[in-house]
Amino acid sequence: MWLLNLSGPTLVSQMVLDQQPKYSIPFNRPTIVGKELYYISQAILEGHSSGDGRFSRQCHQLLEAALGAPRVLLTTSCTHALELAALLIDIQPGDEVIIPSFTFVSTVNAFVLRGARPVFIDIRPDTLNLDEAQLERLITPRTRAIVPVHYAGIGCEMDAILDIARRYGIQVIEDNAHGLFGTYRGKHLGTFGCLATQSFHETKNFTCGEGGALVINDPALIDRAEILREKGTNRSRFFRGQVDKYTWVDIGSSYLPADILAAFLYAQLEAREQIQAKRQQIWEGYFNTLGQWSEENGVRLPVIPEHCAQAYHMFYLLLPSLNQRQALIEHLKRSGILSVFHYLPLHLSEMGTHFGGKAGDCPVTEDISDRLLRLPFFNNMSEAEQTSVISTILSFTWGNS
Ligand SMILES: Cc1ncc(COP(=O)(O)O)c(C=O)c1O
Repeated sequence: MWLLNLSGPTLVSQMVLDQQPKYSIPFNRPTIVGKELYYISQAILEGHSSGDGRFSRQCHQLLEAALGAPRVLLTTSCTHALELAALLIDIQPGDEVIIPSFTFVSTVNAFVLRGARPVFIDIRPDTLNLDEAQLERLITPRTRAIVPVHYAGIGCEMDAILDIARRYGIQVIEDNAHGLFGTYRGKHLGTFGCLATQSFHETKNFTCGEGGALVINDPALIDRAEILREKGTNRSRFFRGQVDKYTWVDIGSSYLPADILAAFLYAQLEAREQIQAKRQQIWEGYFNTLGQWSEENGVRLPVIPEHCAQAYHMFYLLLPSLNQRQALIEHLKRSGILSVFHYLPLHLSEMGTHFGGKAGDCPVTEDISDRLLRLPFFNNMSEAEQTSVISTILSFTWGNS
C-alpha cells in the first residue's frame, strides 16, 4: 500500500513485473542467514550508521582473528580495495604490473588508474590461476607488482610466486575476491602478499550487496592505509584518541562502507561455518554427480590441488567447445535455469589492445574463456533446485541442442 501512495500505480506495476523471476533457478540469489536485519536496526538505533562504527570494528576484528592478519579494513568494494592497494604501494605512471588476463576488469583498472602498464600473463590449464612458470620472462626493470587472483577460491602457487617476487624486489598483491577462508599449504589466502583484497559483492560467499576489504599484511602500510581510506585525514587516529583533532595529512578518498552494510556483513561472517558447510555441500553435489557425464562428454570439472583447501566460491564446467557451451546455456535456459560465463580475455578487450594485447598472447586464457560455464550456486540453494540443474545437465547431449 505504501508503494501505491509513494509511487503511483504505473511504477508499482513495473516493479511487480521486474520482480517476476525470469528464471525459476537464478544464477545467484541474495540470502539472509540470520541476524542481518536485526544488526542493521541496531546500527541505526545506536546512532552510528556511517562508516567505522561498532559493526565495522567487529568485522575488522573477526577477519583479523580468523585470517591471522595484522589489520583488515572494510572498503566499499573489492575494486576500491584494489585502488587503495595501488595507492599504498605508490604505483607511478610507466610502472608495470603483471596481472592475469583471465580476471575481472577491476584487478587491472585499479593499477591502470595510477598510470601503470598492465602486463598480461596467461593461466595454468588446471587451476586457471596465473601460470607462475611464465612470470620471470615478463619481469622487466619497470615491474613493480604481481597480482595473483585466486580463481574460484583455489590458491595460486604462492611459494613460487613469492620466491620470484622476493628475488626481483617486486610487491605481491593478492586479489582474493573469490577466496575468503580458502588456504594454500594451510595458510589463509589473502595473507601472503603485502596487501590482499576481498569482495563482499552480492555474488560472493559472504555479502553486504556491495562491499570489500583490504587485508594489510605488511604492518608498515597500516597507518597510511587508514589515512587514504578516510579522505586523506588522520580521523582514525582521532577516533582512537591518539590525536586531539583530525586534519588533512595525505591524498585519499572515501573508501569506507556505511556501518549499515557492515552490520549486514557481520551477521554473515558470524555464520561463516554454516555458510561454508552449505557451499561445500552444493559444490560436492555438483562434483560427485557430474563425474561420469563429464567423462563421457569430454567436459572438464574443476581441479583442486591437494595442498589447497578451496573456498567453495563457484562451480564451473569446461565444455569441449564454444558451440557446445552455448548449446548447454540454451538447454538450461529452456528449463528456466540461468548459467553464465566469464571472463573475456582482458588482453583482447578494447583497453587491452591499447596496451598492445593481441590474439595468441595468452592462449590458455583465450581457449578457456570460450569454454567455461558457471552453474547456479547460492547459499540457500535447495536440494530440489540443485537436483533440477543436475538432471537438466544429464539430459543434455550435443545432438539435442
Ligand atoms: C577476481 C575479482 N576481482 C575483483 C572483483 C571486484 O569486486 P567488487 O565487485 O567487490 O568490486 C571481482 C568481482 O567479481 C572479481 O571477480
